[in-house]
Amino acid sequence: MEKIVILTGAGISAESGLGTFRDEGGLWAQHAIEDVATPEGFARDPGLVHRFYNARRAQSAQATPNPAHEALARLQTGFGDELWIVTQNVDDLHEKAGSSNVLHMHGSLDGALCGACDHRWPAPLEMAPGDQCPDCGAPAARPDIVWFGEMPYHMERIWELIETADLFAAIGTSGQVYPAAAFAQHAGRAGAHCVELNLADSVNARDFAETRRGPASTLVPEWVDELLSH
Ligand code: OAD
Repeated sequence: MEKIVILTGAGISAESGLGTFRDEGGLWAQHAIEDVATPEGFARDPGLVHRFYNARRAQSAQATPNPAHEALARLQTGFGDELWIVTQNVDDLHEKAGSSNVLHMHGSLDGALCGACDHRWPAPLEMAPGDQCPDCGAPAARPDIVWFGEMPYHMERIWELIETADLFAAIGTSGQVYPAAAFAQHAGRAGAHCVELNLADSVNARDFAETRRGPASTLVPEWVDELLSH
């Protein structure tokens, strides 16, 4: 059976009401990356950073999966463990839709991380400066989100999956953030067929042998139906 790796980005959750980063009016037009998505920003003003992620956590908790997330969950029922979703998203819409093979390379809003001892635990809906680690007691709780300048999660496993994939798809990502932006090129060189499903041209569109343009909620179910009917 074909091995499939699917990279998802903010565009797949846009139609569930969660904002993307770089589209007009996106999160990075409203907030400075260096203030809310770097370790230095957190050290400078932890209150601001917690408020930013508390708001995103609350929004994500209210959000429901759209037909694109649901179609990928359906694809997993056909391909089982031969299908992996690597997501840059910190929401849990893939899991809410029923997908289980999901690697959150940029962390998750549902997680808290101790900046002192690296202990992880489920994040409360609201976090605040000085929240204590339940393991070591340090007042160093932070969202378990990978910030700029930090190492994305699960990279060894992800490169392994990419190198052995027969099919690689990127959905709803602008291709501006590495290492995710390099996956298509690597997958293609290792022999995978690379497909991009996105509303607009991504920066690395030329790394894909096949391109489909449109909203994820219609493109993804169509593509999944094709794969399941082969
Ligand atoms: P971006 O905001 O950079 O890109 C979103 C992409 O989704 C764009 O290419 C849009 O054209 C596309 N898009 C928007 N609406 C869509 C829809 N309804 N259907 C299909 N495509 C749509 O988001 P990402 O590429 O996910 O990292 O951003 C990557 C990383 O940058 C994020 O994980 C985050 C951010 O900084 C961290 O915070 C570490």
